[in-house]
Amino acid sequence: MTKDFLTDAPILVVGAGIMGLGIAQVAAQAGHQVMLYDSRAGAVGEACAKLGKTLDALVVKGKLSAQAVAQTLSRIQAIDSLAAAAPVQLVVEAIVEKIDVKRDLFLQLEAIVAADCVFASNTSSISITAIANGLAQPGRLVGMHFFNPVPLMKLVEVVSGLQTDPAVAHLIFDLAKMWGKTPVFARSTPGFIVNRIARPYYAEALALLQEQATTPAVLDACMRAAGFRMGPCELMDLIGLDTNFAVTQSVFAANFYDKRFVPSLLQREMVDGGLLGRKSGHGFYDYSRPVAKPATATPEPLPPPLAPQLLRVHGSGALADRFAAALVRSGSPIERSQSSDWLGLEVDAAQLRLTDGRPASQLGGEVAVFDLSLASAASGALAWAASVRASPAWCAAAPAWLQVLGFMPQCVADAPGLIVARTLAMLINEAADAVQQGVCSAEAADAAMKLGVNYPAGPFEWLAAWGSDTVIGVLDALDACYRGERYRVSPWLRQRAWQALT
Ligand code: NAI
Repeated sequence: MTKDFLTDAPILVVGAGIMGLGIAQVAAQAGHQVMLYDSRAGAVGEACAKLGKTLDALVVKGKLSAQAVAQTLSRIQAIDSLAAAAPVQLVVEAIVEKIDVKRDLFLQLEAIVAADCVFASNTSSISITAIANGLAQPGRLVGMHFFNPVPLMKLVEVVSGLQTDPAVAHLIFDLAKMWGKTPVFARSTPGFIVNRIARPYYAEALALLQEQATTPAVLDACMRAAGFRMGPCELMDLIGLDTNFAVTQSVFAANFYDKRFVPSLLQREMVDGGLLGRKSGHGFYDYSRPVAKPATATPEPLPPPLAPQLLRVHGSGALADRFAAALVRSGSPIERSQSSDWLGLEVDAAQLRLTDGRPASQLGGEVAVFDLSLASAASGALAWAASVRASPAWCAAAPAWLQVLGFMPQCVADAPGLIVARTLAMLINEAADAVQQGVCSAEAADAAMKLGVNYPAGPFEWLAAWGSDTVIGVLDALDACYRGERYRVSPWLRQRAWQALT
């Protein structure tokens, strides 16, 4: 097989559902002759009609020419028997997510197509190694995992099983690039890259809700303020609680029920009760009314802080400087302690500290902690919590100071790592494990999370900005509070911290 074996190659897409149709569209737009097959009679015809309407709408909007649409549609040929696909050089499978059905399909195809035809599966959760088991040539099978909607989402995970021929993986990688996508290599392990690393985004939100630390509206507002396009609860409502739960369960089972991936009882209850999110009209939010926008957290009405005798900004770096500047702007005389081992504000005998993972109650009496702020300018919702021994006066003053600093303070329970810090630490931890286990490179993980789930940055970019010691500190604090395997630090992260010592 030469490097350009798949350039302009005729292609068979099997499965004319939401993904198969998208893949057929992208391939046809890139100039390939595409055969489209579905085992359900009439499915391909319906799919092509749907595609025609979608593309026509783009013509009306001026995004495509009528000629381009006609060309694309003319390149897609419906076939009603797999036997017609004998000349293709690539098969992309996007059928039902069942291993036996996928295996049977590839076994059938081996008897039809040429020996050098490449087999790609769009499976989102089944092992590529397992699908290839039983094929005469398991080396020709590779994962080509697109994201929904295929024409818009840039990411393609190119997934190699144990027997996948590296040359085949490279052919698919190059082809995805030719189709205008951003491919990343991944090893076939549960959840591949995105569905694995993203688990804590949902799991930490669900854990906080289960222990009644906060509400969906506060969680979503805080994560959006940290730069995420959607908060975890509104995103689960969009994906469907049942779908999200199914992925979590499959990653949990595929990892031999490793407690780190344990699904949430709360989510299970919602699924059992039919609270599936937007599609059922009710999930974390109620969509039954005409204007179904998730409620956002509202700022608390705060009294202005009293003029303290001592106002000292602790710590160094951009955040400490920003605090100092905001206080000076508000007319407060300040002192600075740049060599302090914590970051935040000392107000007379009280402390307002950036979370290091430990609950405020563990740090002292007159203490409040606030969450990690990621946006470059202080703004938006920010979680904070007071020590259980804090005085009512400090509980009232701490959020007022956060408001002076430019935030919309959101009071939550004194949970370790609050909302953003714990979620990010866990995303980084999962990504570190993935890299250590050879699932992908750090660069691939960053690209995958930004392009596959629209994260504002990649886990390793956060790690570089935040520092391994800090991330390990947050994880260790979580581990100390909850015990068990869930928050154990990835050995990769510890090694990285040790490297920084030399
Ligand atoms: P879908 O249910 O919309 O479409 C599947 C199509 O395959 C149906 O039209 C069905 O009639 C057809 N089919 C089933 N068995 C067949 C067989 N033996 N031979 C030929 N056609 C057959 O499903 P969807 O969502 O398009 O998913 C397809 C694959 O893509 C699955 O493996 C899924 O895990 C994966 N995937 C789905 C994503 C999504 O967001 N829906 C994202 C990424 C991957």
